[in-house]
Amino acid sequence: MNLKIAVLPGDYIGPEVMEATLPILEKTLKKHGHEAEYSVCPVGGAGIDACGEPLPAETLATCRASDAILFGSVGGPKWANVPRDKQPERGALLPLRKTFELFANVRPGLLLPALKEASPLAATRIPNGIDMVCIRELTGGIYFGKPKQTTTLANGEVEAVDTMRYRTSEILRITDVAIATARARERKTICLVDKSNVLETSALWNKVVSEHVAANAPDVKLTHLLVDNAAMQLVANPGQFDVLLTENMFGDILSDEMAIICGSLGMLSSASIGAQKNRHGFPFGLYEPSGGSAPDIAGQDKANPCAQILSAALMLRHSFGLNAEAAEIEAAVRATIDAGTRTADVAFGGNAVGTREMAAAVLKNI
Ligand code: IPM
Ligand code: MG
Repeated sequence: MNLKIAVLPGDYIGPEVMEATLPILEKTLKKHGHEAEYSVCPVGGAGIDACGEPLPAETLATCRASDAILFGSVGGPKWANVPRDKQPERGALLPLRKTFELFANVRPGLLLPALKEASPLAATRIPNGIDMVCIRELTGGIYFGKPKQTTTLANGEVEAVDTMRYRTSEILRITDVAIATARARERKTICLVDKSNVLETSALWNKVVSEHVAANAPDVKLTHLLVDNAAMQLVANPGQFDVLLTENMFGDILSDEMAIICGSLGMLSSASIGAQKNRHGFPFGLYEPSGGSAPDIAGQDKANPCAQILSAALMLRHSFGLNAEAAEIEAAVRATIDAGTRTADVAFGGNAVGTREMAAAVLKNI
């Protein structure tokens, strides 16, 4: 297979974990007889520095001509004084999601048995570990709803408005992703998380998801939690979750909570899957670590490259259908961790290796 990959390393630790990942991806692809073309482009703060724009036109054109985007991370204090709409997150990441209609954000919450001690939860809370997936709607809701504005009122007060808006079609297509995800897993259970006791949009989610699952997926079990309760259940008994389905902002918040109970943000990959198909007939997607650009540890060879490496594996699976190749990368990461090679965020006091040494160990295990 020929893979055209747009590589957008971004800012701070982004380039470091990307540099750690590409040789692992390349070795895996070569081994299985594939060839990949990597087009590296500036994005976020790096885009501002190179071209004066967080999402340069050339970067966007390269993404359009590719089968998938491998994304690092964007943002940080260096661009704090750039106008809000030009800031790396709002000026690059959100427009990329919207432009390519990347409506389904899939974040696997897996606590590797060897990393149980890295979870902030007591072992008694996680007797059977954690193996869940958060399916977050990514192109609707309060992130994008209009009106979105700040105005000064006649009496001089300032008023800011964000709008949470959802349509049936947006809820249906993400529910289909949740159903497909649940079907591929053992427990085949979706937990819908919303605030249907208060919000109109949540009441619509509840109705649409319930009817859709009942009519089209009788083999899938649907449960329901209000978002405040879900936040509590995630720390009280995370093992109960299989597939968690929710709207954009609730998913943003709950997926960070899920990430930390699984040991570290540095381990968590994510796939943002689009409505469009690529040259191979698979969904176009953007694959990125769930954590941010971590300015505090940038440039020190400290960042955990696993989230980026595992995001590359998700890319092979979702945008290219290369399941065996994806599984091989995941197994190499697991074997490396099991052998005791870990970066500081998951070493819990033991010997920690740097970004490069961690990546070299994973590369060896391919
Ligand atoms: C995420 C991030 C983004 C979001 C930010 C950087 C805009 O937190 O991917 O979860 O809120 O979606
Ligand atoms: Mg977030």
